[in-house]
Amino acid sequence: MAGIAPFQVMSILARARALEAAGRDIVHMEIGEPDFPTPEPIVAAGQAALAAGRTKYTPASGLPDLRQAIAGYYASRFGVTVSPDRVLVTPGASGALQLILGCLVNPGQQVLMPDPAYPCNRHIVRLFGGEAVALAGEVAQGFAPNPEKVAAAWTPATRALMLASPANPTGACLAPDALAAHYATTRRLGGALVVDEIYQGLEYDHPPHTALALGSQDLFVVNSFSKFFGMTGWRVGWLIAPGAWSGVLDRLAQNIFLAAPTVSQYAALAAFAPESLAIMEQRRQAFAQRRACLKKGLVELGLHIVGEPAGAFYIYADCSALSDDSAGLAADLLERAGVAVTPGLDFGDRQGARYLRFAYTTDEASLQEGLARMGRFFRAGA
Ligand SMILES: Cc1ncc(COP(=O)(O)O)c(C=O)c1O
Repeated sequence: MAGIAPFQVMSILARARALEAAGRDIVHMEIGEPDFPTPEPIVAAGQAALAAGRTKYTPASGLPDLRQAIAGYYASRFGVTVSPDRVLVTPGASGALQLILGCLVNPGQQVLMPDPAYPCNRHIVRLFGGEAVALAGEVAQGFAPNPEKVAAAWTPATRALMLASPANPTGACLAPDALAAHYATTRRLGGALVVDEIYQGLEYDHPPHTALALGSQDLFVVNSFSKFFGMTGWRVGWLIAPGAWSGVLDRLAQNIFLAAPTVSQYAALAAFAPESLAIMEQRRQAFAQRRACLKKGLVELGLHIVGEPAGAFYIYADCSALSDDSAGLAADLLERAGVAVTPGLDFGDRQGARYLRFAYTTDEASLQEGLARMGRFFRAGA
């Protein structure tokens, strides 16, 4: 447990809530979940499942209909054929990441990942006795390390490379050819490629993409109903694994989760219905507008945005012109300006002290208010 750090964002959130309880108004730009409620057709399907008494366990790999529906979504949206046997429904992407890393990593083995990246990955690797090796991301490569760097860091103990697109905290997306190069490199080196696509669908500059379009049967892909589908609290996600891994993944799922929540799985069946997808598209457009507003405002404040935050709902901004201590700056912004943001140290050690993550998971008026407060705070010469 000594190797498993808490999320700084959780202490920021707790402090923000305490300030609110004391009467302060706080603009929330720290939270990594959509402010929109779960779309109505999904809620209705969950309610109908409850009313019909669907409260027993499902198979460990998930409801057969949902596995089929997920495979159907890859076919209809991405033109990619995925056999439902390769789909495992999990308690969120978190469950998928635990299953994949639990099956892949032996004690003492290494997993390569970019810095910055989603912090839980390194802790899950640690949980299974492995070692996460962080590689500096290349801005031009969507903050992923380039394949040469991956190859140079590869050792006999390396088991896998983990990437995410769109990524947290940067919002960066990997181009299909970059993904293909990473896939070729990991195959050549005899390892596995794990691609986290949890923010898929929340892309603003290009159509959504899946690593499965590489045409390979030999990839691990993680996804979730949490973000694009607005179902964070329902705890339901999925993974696509190479066919040969289905048996062991199912065995591990039986042992550590039994199954993902049943009502949530029935609710998720409605997520791919045209009326749900239409709601998500409206929300995607709202996120795109918020992104434009926040990006412009942050640049006007003197923050430097490296790379293109083309997806997810985050902007990772270099605040080193204002402070070389992003944790201290985040604390000051909260206490003195009433704006909650996440310091970069949550996501990596390399340059975390220079960066802040801004989440546009709040409406445009609140973003404008947050920007105005930060402007006053910086002008006052904090
Ligand atoms: C990159 C990434 N992967 C996985 C997760 C876990 O999401 P969930 O378990 O809600 O599906 C998150 C949550 O923020 C994330 O940002």
